[in-house]
Amino acid sequence: KGSDGSEVPEKITIGTDTSFVPFEFLNQDTGEYEGFDIDLVKAIAEKIGIEYELKPMDFNGLIPALQTGNLDMAIAGMTITDERKKVVDFTRPYYDAGLYILVRSDEKSIKGVEDLKGKVVATKQGTTSFNYASKLDGLKEVRPFPNIDQAYMELEKGSADAVIYDSPNVLYYIKTKGKGKVKAVGDLLQAESYGIAFPKGSPLRDKVDEALGELMEDGTYEKLYVKWFGQ
Ligand code: ARG
Repeated sequence: KGSDGSEVPEKITIGTDTSFVPFEFLNQDTGEYEGFDIDLVKAIAEKIGIEYELKPMDFNGLIPALQTGNLDMAIAGMTITDERKKVVDFTRPYYDAGLYILVRSDEKSIKGVEDLKGKVVATKQGTTSFNYASKLDGLKEVRPFPNIDQAYMELEKGSADAVIYDSPNVLYYIKTKGKGKVKAVGDLLQAESYGIAFPKGSPLRDKVDEALGELMEDGTYEKLYVKWFGQ
């Protein structure tokens, strides 16, 4: 039983975002969700012996859905923050990341965060990147988009000067769709760690946290890490 008095149901509903490569994304050919988070959830569920259903939704909808009990758990490269810890519970961190600035390949005037004054920065709404960019002094504008792909497109078209977003997503984009068109500049802006989120007091949190710890020790986590991030 959890501190909220509830018990873990036999089949749980797990929320994830519709697209955050390489953590979760739809494989167009198979119609299945794939990625590091998706593999991790599968391994956790096997370890606990629980059935689950994945529910892809907008990133912004995940925390409200946990709060209303429409989701039992959410995995979506979600950064553990003090703000979010007030309304949901997290596991231990399972991935260390940060934020990067992405610009067009031919950009010469932006070499780091101090060069963003007077510039238009695009990012995804409801994320730590949006909060970070909103606090920067002297930007011309911060433009939040429902999906990060739209922010990347604005950058490539020239309607935004830079994108600020999670380092693994930026680096993956540079290697794939953005190849030759965009580059990351400057240092990692803000260290962040991802955690799996639950409704406050959920009895599932400790079970999942324990399973996560075991997967980190028995080599499963390492295998998945290499599969999705190399090395
Ligand atoms: N790590 C950032 C945050 O928690 C962005 C996560 C975006 N995740 C996603 N699945 N789209 O705010």
